[in-house]
Amino acid sequence: MCFSIMFMLDLTLLFAFSLSAHRIVAAANRSIAAHYNITDHVLNLTVHDYRAELLRKREFPLPAGHEDLVNIKNRLHLATVLIGDKVFALAIDTNSSTTWVADSSFVCLEYHNVDQGPARCNLGREFRPSSSKTLKPLGAKVTSRYYNGMFIEGNFVEEHIGIGGVSRALPYFRKIRQIIGVAEKGYWNGHGVASGVLGLGFQYEQDPFSVIQAVFKDRSSLNIFSLALKRASSPEPTAGGVLAFGGVPNNIPTDNHWAETPILPRSPETPEGYRIKIDGFDIRPPPGAPEPDTEPGGPYKSDDTIMVVDSSTSTVIVPPEVALYTASLFRTGGKLYSPYNKYLVPCIAPAPRVGIVISGKSYYISDADLRSPAPELGDNVCVLELEPADKGRLVLGDVWLRNVLAVFDFTDRVERRRPEYANGVLRIAGREFY
Ligand SMILES: *[C@@H]1O[C@H](CO)[C@@H](O)[C@H](O)[C@H]1NC(C)=O
Ligand SMILES: *[C@@H]1O[C@H](CO)[C@@H](O)[C@H](O)[C@H]1NC(C)=O
Ligand SMILES: *[C@@H]1O[C@H](CO)[C@@H](O)[C@H](O)[C@H]1NC(C)=O
Ligand SMILES: *[C@@H]1O[C@H](CO)[C@@H](O)[C@H](O)[C@H]1NC(C)=O
Repeated sequence: MCFSIMFMLDLTLLFAFSLSAHRIVAAANRSIAAHYNITDHVLNLTVHDYRAELLRKREFPLPAGHEDLVNIKNRLHLATVLIGDKVFALAIDTNSSTTWVADSSFVCLEYHNVDQGPARCNLGREFRPSSSKTLKPLGAKVTSRYYNGMFIEGNFVEEHIGIGGVSRALPYFRKIRQIIGVAEKGYWNGHGVASGVLGLGFQYEQDPFSVIQAVFKDRSSLNIFSLALKRASSPEPTAGGVLAFGGVPNNIPTDNHWAETPILPRSPETPEGYRIKIDGFDIRPPPGAPEPDTEPGGPYKSDDTIMVVDSSTSTVIVPPEVALYTASLFRTGGKLYSPYNKYLVPCIAPAPRVGIVISGKSYYISDADLRSPAPELGDNVCVLELEPADKGRLVLGDVWLRNVLAVFDFTDRVERRRPEYANGVLRIAGREFY
C-alpha cells in the first residue's frame, strides 16, 4: 500500500519530538548486555558474527511478546491492539510507520469525495475519542493514500497502546504512549472486522510515529520482530498466524533452511518500508510437463531484483514477463483478465512451482497460495496470485509471506556494525507446507 503522510507541526510539537528523538538515539548505541540481564544464549547471539549457514531457529531468542493474527479471506492479516482502553483489529502494514484507527464518526467516501454510507467501508469497531481518558490531541493532520485508491484523513493524537499479548489476554508486552492517527473520513475497506492499520515500518532512527521503534526503545528485549502469516484453511479459516516481538516463535514449523539478506536503505519511493534484493525467480513446470529449453528454475532464476516486503499487499507483484511465463506453464496457458490485472488459470490442473531466490535459496510459494478460486468468473477458474507489475512496483506480499517465517532483525545495526546491515537484516526460513 502506498502511504504518504502530511504532517503539520507547530514549534512546541517539533521540540517535543526532537527531544524524544534524542532519547532513542542515545538508547540505540548502548550495548544491550550492559543494561539488562539476558542469558548467555542471547548474548552469544548478539555478539557472534555467525554465518547464515549456521543459523538455526533455536539460536534466536524466544519472543518476549506476541499477537495471534486474524486472517480475513487471505486479503488482510489483522493484529489485535489495545487503544485507550478498548481492543481493535488493525491490518498489519510493514510498508508504513503510521498506525491509525477509524473514528466513530468516520465518513466513508469514494475517490471524488462523495459520501458512500458506512456499508461501503465496512469497518470494524470504531474508536470514540471522546470516551478516552488517556487521549491527547496533537493538532496535527494525518493523510494516508494507498496505491489502490484507498485513503484516509484525520488527526494525529497521542494515546495509550498495548501490544504483544492482547489476543491471548496476557499481560501486554508493551504499553506505550504513541502517536497514532484517528481517521475521520476516507475510503478503506475493513471487511467488517478491521478498524485501521498497524504500521510495522519506520522511516529513520527517530520516527516518532513508529510503534516498532517505540517497542524497541525499551531495551529489555532484542530489536527483532517476526511474522509467520498463516493461510486460511478449513478447520480454522480465520487463524492468521503470529506477529512476535523480541524473538522468533518456536512453535512455527519451518524447513529450517535460513537465509539472510540486508534490508536496503530506505528509498524515497518506500520511505518507511523494507526493501530487499532477491536473486531471481525459480520457476519450474508442473510435474509431467516438458521441461522448457532453459536451465532448471527457468529464464528468471538469476535476475537480481529489488522487491518491497509488504504485509499490506495481498499478492506478489512481479515483472510482467515473470507472471506471463508462469501463467504459460499451466496446461491451458493463462489469459490476462484486465479488470483484476491477473492471469486466469485452471484450478484443477497441475501448477508450476514458483520460488523466490534469496541469498541463493529458493523459498517456494505453495499451490494453495499461488492460485485462488474466482467462482464469479466460472467453474474451475482461478486467478494466479503473481500479479504483473504495472509501474515497476515489485512486492513480496502476503501470498509469499504465508510461506515463510520472516524475521526482521535490527540488532545488527547496533551490535555488529556491518555497514551492509546498517538498516537491519531480513532472515527467512521456508514453511511452504503446514
Ligand atoms: C510503500 O509506501 C510508499 C509510500 O510511503 C509507496 O509509494 C509505495 O508504493 C508503497 N509500496 C507498496 C509495496 O505498497
Ligand atoms: C552514541 O551515538 C552518539 C550519536 O551518534 C554519539 O555522539 C555517541 O558518542 C555514541 N555513544 C557511544 C557510547 O557510542
Ligand atoms: C539481574 O541479575 C542479578 C544478578 O544475577 C540479579 O540479582 C537481579 O535480580 C537480576 N535482575 C532482574 C531484573 O532479573
Ligand atoms: C556462549 O559462548 C561461550 C563462549 O563461546 C560458551 O562458553 C557458552 O557456552 C555459550 N553459551 C551458550 C548458551 O551457548
